[in-house]
Amino acid sequence: MNNSQSYDSKTIWYHWLSAGLIFSLWIIGQTIDFFPKGTPRITVRSMHITFGVILAVLLIFRIVWKNKSGVKLPSAIPGILGRLSTGAHHALYALITVTVIVGLSATWIRGDNIFNLFQIPAFDPGNKELRKQVVDIHELLANSLLILAILHGMIAMWHHWIKKDDVLKRMLPRLK
Ligand code: HEM
Ligand code: HEM
Repeated sequence: MNNSQSYDSKTIWYHWLSAGLIFSLWIIGQTIDFFPKGTPRITVRSMHITFGVILAVLLIFRIVWKNKSGVKLPSAIPGILGRLSTGAHHALYALITVTVIVGLSATWIRGDNIFNLFQIPAFDPGNKELRKQVVDIHELLANSLLILAILHGMIAMWHHWIKKDDVLKRMLPRLK
């Protein structure tokens, strides 16, 4: 399964699972307020928080795997562009980490109700300004993450369809 030209299957599944969760989290995050107050909105917000926690766990496993046993490939392009691409990958990891941390802080500061099962005690009840600030920062980070991820995906497709090299194939599952 592994060869020097492609990532191992675990790395590949971590990548695509995280990407799927991040796109879903962004869409759910943006639509929470369209749902009526009460159980519908609580359910959608709780789904957002649950997916976010799953992403956080996946991120920890992914980073441990990457540093311990995952296949490490040199940058697919040489020179300054290669260093830029590695820098963009590090920026993606950093943005995921900070978005998740600020998301968890938002949940704690707001004191969210999770699926009507339990209530997280609010950090500073009644401090609406703080709640707004932390959600605004979370949204800014989430939007930056999404924009960088879309650019990154577009570059990968440019490699595949225009430059016709194997960069995208390095990150695709090989089906038997
Ligand atoms: C553990 C991880 C996360 C937690 C606990 C979390 C929690 C939250 C909370 C509590 C809100 C406010 C909901 C409301 O206003 O009713 C929110 C909003 C939002 N989240 Fe997250 N989040 C997490 C990760 C993410 C990630 C990774 C993304 C996307 C890439 C994301 C995108 C958004 C967006 C776009 C909003 C809407 C902000 C707005 O329009 O006010 N979240 N999140
Ligand atoms: C939220 C969405 C995404 C995130 C957060 C993300 C994140 C990342 C990260 C952090 C890496 C570096 C892996 C490592 O070396 O540890 C990577 C590699 C890669 N990603 Fe994504 N990605 C996303 C979506 C996409 C999409 C949509 C595509 C293709 C259409 C794509 C194609 C690739 C490819 C081909 C590589 C390997 C690049 C190389 O070997 O130099 N990614 N991605």
